[in-house]
Amino acid sequence: MKNLFTRRFDRLVRLAVTVLGGALVFGVGFSLYALWPSNQAVGYEPVQPVPFSHKRMAGDNKIPCLYCHDGAERGPVAGLPTVEVCMNCHTYVQPKDKQGNLTPGMQALFEYVDPATNKPTKPIVWEKIHDLSDFAYFDHSRHTVGARLPCADCHGPVETMDQVYQVNSLKMGWCLDCHTKPPEPWRTDGRATRGPTQCTSCHR
Ligand code: HEC
Ligand code: HEC
Ligand code: HEC
Ligand code: HEC
Ligand code: HEC
Repeated sequence: MKNLFTRRFDRLVRLAVTVLGGALVFGVGFSLYALWPSNQAVGYEPVQPVPFSHKRMAGDNKIPCLYCHDGAERGPVAGLPTVEVCMNCHTYVQPKDKQGNLTPGMQALFEYVDPATNKPTKPIVWEKIHDLSDFAYFDHSRHTVGARLPCADCHGPVETMDQVYQVNSLKMGWCLDCHTKPPEPWRTDGRATRGPTQCTSCHR
C-alpha cells in the first residue's frame, strides 16, 4: 500500500510535536518556579481575610505604626494587632453604605466580632508576608531603637499601600549591604554604628 503521508511530512509532524511538548514542559515548569512562594518574596502581596488598608489607617487617618505593631520597638517581633485593638475604634467607627448596611469591609471585620457586644469571637488569621527563615536571627528593637532606622528603610512606604507587599528581598545580601555601609552621621552619637558581619551574629 502506498504511504498516505510523505516521509517529509512525517518528520515535520514529529518535529512539531517535540517543539510543542518542550514548550509546554518549559512553560509549566517556569510558571511553577515563578509562582512558588519562596521565589515571590519581593512584591509578595497576598489577599487578606479582612480588607485592611494601611493607606486609609496609617496614611489618611495617621494612626502611628506602633499603635498596632508595638513589639517593633520592644523586642525581636513587631507583631500584629489583635481584634480587640481594632475594636478600640470600630466599636464606635462603623462605616455604612447609603442603605444603612455595614460596608463590605466592616462586614468582613464583623465576621470576627459579636455585633451585640462588639467583643471578638475569634482571631483573624492574617496571611504572613515577610517571613525570614528560622536559621536567620533578626531583632526589630535593635534596628528601630538601637540603630534608629525608620520602618520605611526596610518595609517601604507602607502608609501608601492599600494592601501590604514586600519591598525588599530579606536575603542575606540585603542585610549585609546595609551592615557594611559606613554609618550615617545621625547614628554615630555613641549609639549604634553599623551592623555585624560575623556569621554567628545572624546564624546562632
Ligand atoms: C490600625 C492598625 C495598624 C496600623 C496603624 C499599622 N498596621 Fe501594619 N498591619 C496591621 C495589620 C492588621 C496587618 C496584617 C494585615 C496586612 O498585612 O495588611 C499589618 C501588616 C503589616 C506588615 C506586613 C506583616 C507581614 O505579614 O509581613 C508590615 C510590614 C506593616 N504592617 C508595617 C506597618 C507600618 C510601617 C505602619 C506605619 C506606617 C503600620 N504597619 C501601621 C495593622 C496596622
Ligand atoms: C485608631 C482607630 C482605628 C483602629 C485601631 C482601627 N481602625 Fe479601621 N478604621 C478607622 C477609621 C477612622 C476608619 C474610616 C476610614 C475612612 O473612612 O477613611 C476605618 C476603616 C476601616 C475599614 C474600612 C471600612 C469601609 O469603609 O469599608 C476596615 C475594613 C477597617 N477599618 C478594619 C480595621 C481592622 C481590621 C483593624 C484592626 C487590625 C482596624 N480597622 C483598626 C479607625 C481605626
Ligand atoms: C532593619 C530592617 C527593618 C526595620 C527597620 C523594620 N523592620 Fe519590620 N521586619 C523586618 C524583617 C527582616 C521582618 C521579617 C522577620 C521575620 O520573618 O522573622 C520584619 C517583619 C515585620 C512584621 C511582620 C511581623 C513580625 O514581627 O515578624 C511587621 C508587622 C513589621 N515588620 C513592622 C515593622 C514596623 C512597624 C517597623 C517600624 C517601627 C519595622 N517593622 C521596622 C525588617 C525591618
Ligand atoms: C538599613 C540597614 C539595615 C538592614 C537592612 C539590616 N540591618 Fe541589622 N543592623 C543594622 C545596624 C545599624 C545595626 C547595629 C545596631 C546596634 O548595634 O544597636 C544592626 C544590628 C544587627 C544585629 C546585631 C544586634 C542583635 O540583635 O544582636 C543583627 C543580628 C542584625 N542586625 C541582623 C540583621 C538581619 C538578619 C538583617 C536582614 C534580614 C538585617 N540585620 C538588616 C542595620 C541594618
Ligand atoms: C546580617 C545577618 C547575616 C550575616 C552576618 C550572615 N548571614 Fe547568612 N543569611 C542571612 C539571611 C537573612 C539569610 C537568608 C534567610 C532567608 O532566605 O530567609 C541567610 C542565608 C544563608 C545561607 C543559606 C543560603 C542563602 O544564601 O540563602 C547560608 C549558607 C548562609 N547564610 C551562611 C552564612 C555564612 C557562612 C556567613 C558568614 C560569612 C553568614 N551567612 C553571615 C543573614 C546573615
